Amino acid sequence: MNRRIAEANDILSGDDKGRTRRAAAAREDIGEAAEILKSGGLVAFPTETVYGLGADAVSEAAVAALYAAKGRPSFNPLIAHIPGLSEAAAQGRFTKEAQKLAEALWPGPLTVVVPVSATCLVTPLARAGLDSLALRAPSHSVAQALLRAVGRPIVAPSANLSGRVSPTSAEHVLADLAGRIDLVLDAGPAEVGVESTIVSFLEDAPRLLRAGAVSPEAIEQILGRRLARPRADSGQSVAAPGMLSSHYAPRARVRMNAADMRDGEAGLDFHGRFLGRQPNLDLSPRGDLAQAAANLFAYLRQLDATGAVTIAVAPIPEQGLGEAINDRLRRAAARR
Ligand code: TXA
Ligand code: MG
Repeated sequence: MNRRIAEANDILSGDDKGRTRRAAAAREDIGEAAEILKSGGLVAFPTETVYGLGADAVSEAAVAALYAAKGRPSFNPLIAHIPGLSEAAAQGRFTKEAQKLAEALWPGPLTVVVPVSATCLVTPLARAGLDSLALRAPSHSVAQALLRAVGRPIVAPSANLSGRVSPTSAEHVLADLAGRIDLVLDAGPAEVGVESTIVSFLEDAPRLLRAGAVSPEAIEQILGRRLARPRADSGQSVAAPGMLSSHYAPRARVRMNAADMRDGEAGLDFHGRFLGRQPNLDLSPRGDLAQAAANLFAYLRQLDATGAVTIAVAPIPEQGLGEAINDRLRRAAARR
């Protein structure tokens, strides 16, 4: 377990605005978190990808409170989190292929979109009224323990204000949401750093809706066929409603594929391109995409805090995790 967990004991957020409590992700705190969720409260918790903001997926009031806390438009549906495939199968209708993929990758950073089942408990508000449902079984031990303690689906978007950079630590969560939520379970930095890969099984061919922690190549290998790609218009369409083109937005402008840093810019480097230039953070000096993904959101926040008007981003290879990293950076760079 993480060092931070061992340090245990509750720490107040120290924020006058709010009474959001931060707790180490120890067993008694997970129990308390489950009670808060069951009574309609909001709890941020760690997953292997990013921190999520949890609410009882069955309760319309809890889901409404979650949308309000994030400032998220309610036409953008949420992912229901469950411990595994057996719990998922009660909520959604799995095709053979959806089942095969979930069996191979769950628990883990994969989200599948399937038609809702007749027994689905997730409130239509959480689904933005759609007759489909996004489901994910996170592998993080704290997320697993929490989901099992609650015993029903928990919707959990990334625990940031809508449109902002996703949180990879409890500090990031509090920076956005202190005073708006009841509790954050702190288990240290998220391991992967970019969100789950979303695959839709609503059409004949499985479609990638969001690049993420699992590379499309790995999924294609498991399914034995190519994934259809996001629709060109998915920026605003209802098929992938959350993939708004301006998302993951720092305050600074983002300039991608920068060959060099210009005067006054802050640098988000990869593999030592901007070596010697300041201010500059290297996502991975050794050019490792997994390391880059883990650092991405924290570094964007840090560079934003320098007050720089523009963040120059070094080229990042468009392969494996690089596809998800570049996707998030393109959204951060989108005009808003
Ligand atoms: O890694 C993750 O997936 C994190 C952690 C906390 O689990 N969660 C996350 O949730 O990234 P969120 O709300 O930030 O992103 C959910 C995405 C949105 O783009 C939303 O539009 C899409 O999932 N989505 C949800 N339900 C959908 C549906 N029925 N059809 C298509 N897209 C859907
Ligand atoms: Mg998000």
